[in-house]
Amino acid sequence: MYPFKPGHVFVRDTWYVAALSAEIDAGMIERRILDEPVLLYRTEAGDPVAMAGLCPHRRLPLAMGRRVGDAVQCAYHGITFGPDGSCLRVPSQASPGSRMRVRTYPVVERWNWVWIWTGDPAAADPALIPDHGEMGLRDGWEATPAEHYAVPARYQLLIENLQDLSHISYLHGAYVEDAAWTETPVQTMFEGGGMRSARISHDTPLSGFNAWCFPDAAPRVDQELRSVFKSPGVTYSGPIVGETPGEACNGRYLGTMFAVHAITPETPRSTHYFSTTTRDFRTGDTAFSEELHRMDIEVRMQDVVALGAIERHLSDESRLAPEISVAADTPALHVRRLVEKMIAAEQAA
Ligand code: FES
Ligand SMILES: [Fe+2]
Repeated sequence: MYPFKPGHVFVRDTWYVAALSAEIDAGMIERRILDEPVLLYRTEAGDPVAMAGLCPHRRLPLAMGRRVGDAVQCAYHGITFGPDGSCLRVPSQASPGSRMRVRTYPVVERWNWVWIWTGDPAAADPALIPDHGEMGLRDGWEATPAEHYAVPARYQLLIENLQDLSHISYLHGAYVEDAAWTETPVQTMFEGGGMRSARISHDTPLSGFNAWCFPDAAPRVDQELRSVFKSPGVTYSGPIVGETPGEACNGRYLGTMFAVHAITPETPRSTHYFSTTTRDFRTGDTAFSEELHRMDIEVRMQDVVALGAIERHLSDESRLAPEISVAADTPALHVRRLVEKMIAAEQAA
């Protein structure tokens, strides 16, 4: 399936964001993840639980059932499962029997997100969750409230969109008109199983966006527009800006802003997109934070709309002419190969 070979769909051995912490409360929700229904809830102690969403008996969605303490009682025939997936009770027989159980998924709550491991549970190492500090989710930085978008497009379109930052000045030109972000050649580096791309520009005029972020900045800046693919589930991207050293100034560091993108396949053709934007400047500036958050939602919705429009035409790939790539596509094509290799390695295993 585009852009991969037929049959290749998801990377399973990785951590994805399943939900915002705030989405899971005392009740139960069903969410489709990697094209499977997943039940999400919290125990009375507040620990998140993720289990297969359908009752193994006659497949009624467990989210239609009710909570009995930390357990879930199916609404159809009352079979009850504990948070570890074991069957606690089958009302029509004395003992549950050993086969009656429901699959559970390893989950870890970090920052305002609940992470789920969708592969072999034995390989679910929390140390593989991308480092939050690196993305700006750390002391001394500020993050906009986490959001969740429903993207009506396959996840790889979003992963590649985030390595294809030449689109910023066009698709998001009403917000970010900085030509340096589009016209500067892009460099790519492979690191830690992922990939970093960077557009490094020197001595460019302060854009309207940067002037808004840094009102007292000198008129010329050096900047790096960075995008880091950490895993199929996480990319972060954004500018690192400083004043251009010269007669008038000594090259003062201005600040860094990272848009964090947590990407979770919903179905082969739709994606959960969780977001926040972090920064190390103007922290505590409430008016700036609120305006940034509002703008951030509008910008991300432009991507959601564009990717949905592309997806609508991918349903019959055989009738489409082959796509034509340009120089700026290099990082996106690298990341396509990376994800393709991950899927192939899992299938070979
Ligand atoms: S379908 Fe759940 S108890 Fe029968
Ligand atoms: Fe975008």
